[in-house]
Amino acid sequence: AVVILDYGSQYTQLITRRCRELLIFSEVVPGDTDLARIAKESPRVVILSGGPNSVHVAGAPKVPDGLFDYCREHNVPVLGICYGMQLMVQTLGGTVSCAFEAEGGEYGRTTIATKNSRLFPLETWPAAEQTVWMSHGDEATALPDGFTAVAHSPKGTIVAIENPKIGFYGLQYHPEVMHTEKGTETLRHFLYAISGLTGTWSMKNVYEEQLKAIQAKVGTEDHVICALSGGVDSAVAATIVHKAIGDRLHCVFVDNGLLRYKEQERVMATFNEHLHLPVTCVDASERMLTRLKGMDDPEGKRKAIGELFIRIFEDFAKKLEVEVGHKPKFLVQGTLYPDVIESCPPPGTDLKHSHKIKSHHNVGGLPEDLQFELIEPLRWLFKDEVRKIGALLEVPRAFLSRHPFPGPGLAVRILGDVTEGNALEVLRHADEIYTNTIREFGLYDEIWQAFAVFLPVKSVGVQGDQRTHSHVIALRAVTSGDGMTADWYPFDGKFLKEVSSRICNKVKSVNRVVYDITSKPPGTIEWE
Ligand code: XMP
Repeated sequence: AVVILDYGSQYTQLITRRCRELLIFSEVVPGDTDLARIAKESPRVVILSGGPNSVHVAGAPKVPDGLFDYCREHNVPVLGICYGMQLMVQTLGGTVSCAFEAEGGEYGRTTIATKNSRLFPLETWPAAEQTVWMSHGDEATALPDGFTAVAHSPKGTIVAIENPKIGFYGLQYHPEVMHTEKGTETLRHFLYAISGLTGTWSMKNVYEEQLKAIQAKVGTEDHVICALSGGVDSAVAATIVHKAIGDRLHCVFVDNGLLRYKEQERVMATFNEHLHLPVTCVDASERMLTRLKGMDDPEGKRKAIGELFIRIFEDFAKKLEVEVGHKPKFLVQGTLYPDVIESCPPPGTDLKHSHKIKSHHNVGGLPEDLQFELIEPLRWLFKDEVRKIGALLEVPRAFLSRHPFPGPGLAVRILGDVTEGNALEVLRHADEIYTNTIREFGLYDEIWQAFAVFLPVKSVGVQGDQRTHSHVIALRAVTSGDGMTADWYPFDGKFLKEVSSRICNKVKSVNRVVYDITSKPPGTIEWE
């Protein structure tokens, strides 16, 4: 594997992505990880990421003790990127200066001049100039023994260094970002030609490795349970486990009464007909809606839903124990790699200032005291990789490309008391019309997430010469990469006109439709 030490750059995940696109498995660990832990991975290459710090600031992160000696002894090539290169220079006895203090650093697009070298051999890079993406305040002004400068910026700054004898390389710019024109080629050259790796990482291999790992972990007797949400991650995770251990996997799909129009039937049909998964559908809608009656505080609603879900899940596990005579020992979770990375923040991250915005509840949010051992077949994968495995396992495309849907369901899309009047019914109907219209206009895959929201207010309207006093439906559609930030989707007037008239004409007790034009931040994607 390629082990990437994370020093807090916003681009660290991109380095992982680029390696994987080059068919090489890579994983991110915090920059201060113990050498013993790194050695356990038997890294074939180590990459030091960029980071927001200056090596001169007190408490700035350092490389793990003994890392460079280990890499030299074991012939593990090292690539330092930006802050990573500066760490390499400083740790090995060179000088890093705050030379730009007066001028304010080098940021953005820059053209650099490369020299014939191991990093930039003339036969691969006949042109000596490259456009790269730079972002730094400090610079290396004296190199450690044995290192040569192999590229310079127009200001004369050293932007690439190498010591091929010991296999250490450094780039002051970011080869992982799209704007660096030859970035991927540079990484390919480093990983393939310089480090001698071959590309073997493919979803087929991942799948086959997971099958073996799950079989070895679960053995031939034990039983496994899994909560399916109707989303891609839990469905793909369960499908892999099912292929590995067959019907010793027991899945549960909870109808919490907060699902979309015909969601239960549609999802169960996909599970049964296409994925052949053994799924029990538990109808807990009455229990949930009784619990939510009269509650209108967003956080209170979220907490109540999360807690009740756990109780329902525990009941399922107990019942299963009676039925199959085995206490299930393992729990499948659809945890993805970004969740894993996010739960091990890089050194120097100030967690004190991160505020909780909402209590997210999903099926992956089951508490540890449920006392199961976890099986997480997707914990090394990004979402698009999960979709690729899903396609390999013949999960229908329409299912794989579904927009995300929150664990608390429509409860966070009905402001206030969910059980009030016919809010759920009205919202389901409006939401279905909205989604179908988006599909009809061919926009579904362009939009990251779209849904309708029920507002607990009434406005005056006129329908069929009659004065009406009916509900308002808000529509939301956003583009996003990971849901952390989002922008509203710019529908054209024709679409908005059509969807508004369809909703007002077809959904009883709605006489007004509004479109949400708020990005995140300041809004969140959901309304509660
Ligand atoms: P917000 O509203 O926080 O949503 O901007 C970001 C993304 O997360 C989804 N979301 C949730 N997903 N459990 C989930 O599984 C939750 O409690 C939850 N709350 C929000 C939301 O739909 C969007 O995709």
